[in-house]
Amino acid sequence: MQTHEISSRFLNHFTRNGHTLVPSASLIFEDPNLLFVNAGMVQFKPYFLGQAPPPYDRATSVQKCVRTGDIDEVGKTTRHNTFFQMAGNFSFGDYFKAGAIEFAWSLITNGVTDGGYGFDPDRLWATVYDDDDEAFELWRKIAGLPEERIQRRDGKDNYWDMGVPGPGGPCSEIYYDRGPEHGRDGGPVADEDRYLEIWNLVFMQDERGELSPKAGHKPIGSLPTKNIDTGMGIERVATLLQGVDNVYETDLVRPVIGKAEEMSGRRYGSGSHVDDVRFRVIADHARSGMMLIADGVTPGNEARGYVLRRLLRRIVRSVRLLGVTEPVLGEFAAVVRDTMSPSYPELASDFPRIESIMRKEEETFLSTLASGSRIFDLAADQLKSEGHAQLPGDKAFQLHDTYGFPIDLTLEMAAEKGLTVDETGFRELMAEQRARAKADAAARKTGHGDQTVYRDLLAQGATEFLGYETLSAEATVRGLVREGARVRRAAEGEIVEVILDRTPLYAESGGQESDAGTITGPGVELEVLDVQKVARKLWVHRVRVRSGEIVEGLNVEALVDPEWRIGARQGHSGTHVVHAALREVLGPTALQSGSYNKPGYLRLDFAWSGALSSDTRSEIEEVSNLAVRKDLPVKVVYTDMGGAQELGAVALFGETYDETVRVVEIGGPWSRELCGGTHVEHSSQIGPITLIGESSVGSGSRRLEAYVGMDAMRYLAKERALVQNLATLLKVPGDEVPARVEALVDRLRGAEKELEKLRAGQLLSSAGTLADKAEDVDGTALVALQVPDGVGGNDLRSLAVEVRNRLGSRSGVVALFSTDGDKVAFVVATTATARDNGIAAGKLVPSFVSAIEGRGGGKPDMAQGGGANPGGVAEAVTALRKALTSA
Ligand code: ALA
Repeated sequence: MQTHEISSRFLNHFTRNGHTLVPSASLIFEDPNLLFVNAGMVQFKPYFLGQAPPPYDRATSVQKCVRTGDIDEVGKTTRHNTFFQMAGNFSFGDYFKAGAIEFAWSLITNGVTDGGYGFDPDRLWATVYDDDDEAFELWRKIAGLPEERIQRRDGKDNYWDMGVPGPGGPCSEIYYDRGPEHGRDGGPVADEDRYLEIWNLVFMQDERGELSPKAGHKPIGSLPTKNIDTGMGIERVATLLQGVDNVYETDLVRPVIGKAEEMSGRRYGSGSHVDDVRFRVIADHARSGMMLIADGVTPGNEARGYVLRRLLRRIVRSVRLLGVTEPVLGEFAAVVRDTMSPSYPELASDFPRIESIMRKEEETFLSTLASGSRIFDLAADQLKSEGHAQLPGDKAFQLHDTYGFPIDLTLEMAAEKGLTVDETGFRELMAEQRARAKADAAARKTGHGDQTVYRDLLAQGATEFLGYETLSAEATVRGLVREGARVRRAAEGEIVEVILDRTPLYAESGGQESDAGTITGPGVELEVLDVQKVARKLWVHRVRVRSGEIVEGLNVEALVDPEWRIGARQGHSGTHVVHAALREVLGPTALQSGSYNKPGYLRLDFAWSGALSSDTRSEIEEVSNLAVRKDLPVKVVYTDMGGAQELGAVALFGETYDETVRVVEIGGPWSRELCGGTHVEHSSQIGPITLIGESSVGSGSRRLEAYVGMDAMRYLAKERALVQNLATLLKVPGDEVPARVEALVDRLRGAEKELEKLRAGQLLSSAGTLADKAEDVDGTALVALQVPDGVGGNDLRSLAVEVRNRLGSRSGVVALFSTDGDKVAFVVATTATARDNGIAAGKLVPSFVSAIEGRGGGKPDMAQGGGANPGGVAEAVTALRKALTSA
């Protein structure tokens, strides 16, 4: 049975049984705790937690999932894919354990002609949570499973939660026995390769706190209702129904392996385990990489972009290890498109964009591979000449961070050179970097970590948003929250969150900053500091009580600062205009990946590799300002997702499939975006748009910044004043300023060079005096001293050489130290006679570097290095003297 068929049978079975079909959410659903959607229940989380009323009692979906926890394990074990499809059925306070078992059992055991999967009931096993006698009994009663095929397992296997605080519950899993040729007898507890898990039924009833019941901790509470969340692995069922060995060999994955076989001339399954792993990595990653790009992720160095980059680079790397050197990602993309587009048509319709991102990433990687290899060779040669056998962790990290070298590549190249790699050090640095990225991401979100406090408020219904029509509205204070707890009142000077039944104030979303404004009532005035949405339904106003006291239940008036709103509308419409201009100039692949706007300012991140030339920037600016001048009408259209796609509206990542979507058009089809923001009515109201910068935000992603409206005007006025000042200062007309500055810079450079020459001459002339200071250490003339501050780098080396020359045919060692702030640099040089006596500069270094907390090395005639303890120079000189005595 084909994979697509397995999905459609699942959905048919459940829609026939009263479930609403809900489309898969985007892989990058907005959830601060998740990098990617990793289970079918993610989009339903607010319903389980009671934060929002579910629009249906029963739902079913086939959810795209990505789990990248152990990318390194992919292909080595064969049960897991980084991308997979989880089919699920969900009950929100409707049926519970019996219903879930009944529905699952009938689908998997009903005959193929009856719409089922036709599994042999005698080969099915079930597991239940430790003391879940109820589930145990239901498996006997409903499925007729004999007791010995129902096994009890502890929380580690049979409790499910999201890995973070949130909903959870004991679960019950269904396994299929693949037969003794796949492993040991004894059921799932004995062997999970032979007994393959196909379906997990979660009895979602608890709220888990910081510590997971998986590890035996008590849940912190019960959910408002008892629910069902299940997940059936489509690819695993396909493995069984297609009679293949593992998920990589199923109909939707295997063709990529076929392509790799064709390109490499090697064969999958021909006895080489390492090659097979490479084939599987390629097949798996090509699919997940493409699905991620389709949902708006672009390769980068942080968070999601970083995972995508790793996936794509691992493909390129694996293919090279199979002996293919030409670019490959475009070829694999076409195969994935052909196999997956029946279920995911966007892979075909959006193919040019997806493919171009993949190709660009491959190009970048291939060129960084080349430059990284040179860096690696240099580092390896230096290490070996200094007698080291291990590449330090920070070097491996640098190769990874700057040149995108996967650690396995570094390991392999090091092994070729007879070196090991400090992997622990490398992993520590990686972990630090991840922690930084995570902290950044967390800091960007406002701190609504624990949302349980809003549950009762949500139960009273959503806040009505009036801000599209009006700037002021009468409202009632539904509740007050301070530091995560409900309070009845708040007095002057306090900062508190106010939840209203209705509000005209825009909550931060879609890149638009929240509105500034006030809330006033009898004897009380509040200043609005921030507005955020909770569970997409509740408007939470963070306010400072300016005067009086705010009390729950009070009738108030909420007011948007009108000046602010004018600016906010200009900023947001300006963002759409710049985005459309960008796509007009660069083509449709320049897709926005993030944005931020507030009155007077906008910023837009987009997928693009390489800096924009100044001509291109001017062109984007010109197209933007022409769109303003054309006074294009701005229209808001409400439609459904299908309608929006037909209109060609640009859907950006993180969008969800709410029933009604809002499309904002500027100039009809010229700019169409799904957007909930506030906008001007005509493009001329945006005012001038001035680009102020273009920069890189991780490779493959650029950022444009601009001022709009009055701020653009003020910015230009400031620039003009600057030019005028320069012109006055330089005593030339404004347009001659650049030529004049250039001439000045030239003269300055000439003068600097002259000065440099003089200084070097002076320094070298001191060489004689220094040579005269040589002391005799066991027959060797030693000049070891600290030269004046600021003599570093080349100067220090030239001076050492000059002093050495003065020592002539004597056995001599010159060691010069110079300090600069908290750093110290040194050079050691030896005369030919000293070397004949077995004294090597490079070998002397270890004798004294610890005194200056430094390192360094070099050849017998010349060595150099640096350290972090300038106070230790005297001690270093003593140590060197001693080393010469014993030499
Ligand atoms: N949410 C459950 C899982 O992911 C069904 O296994």
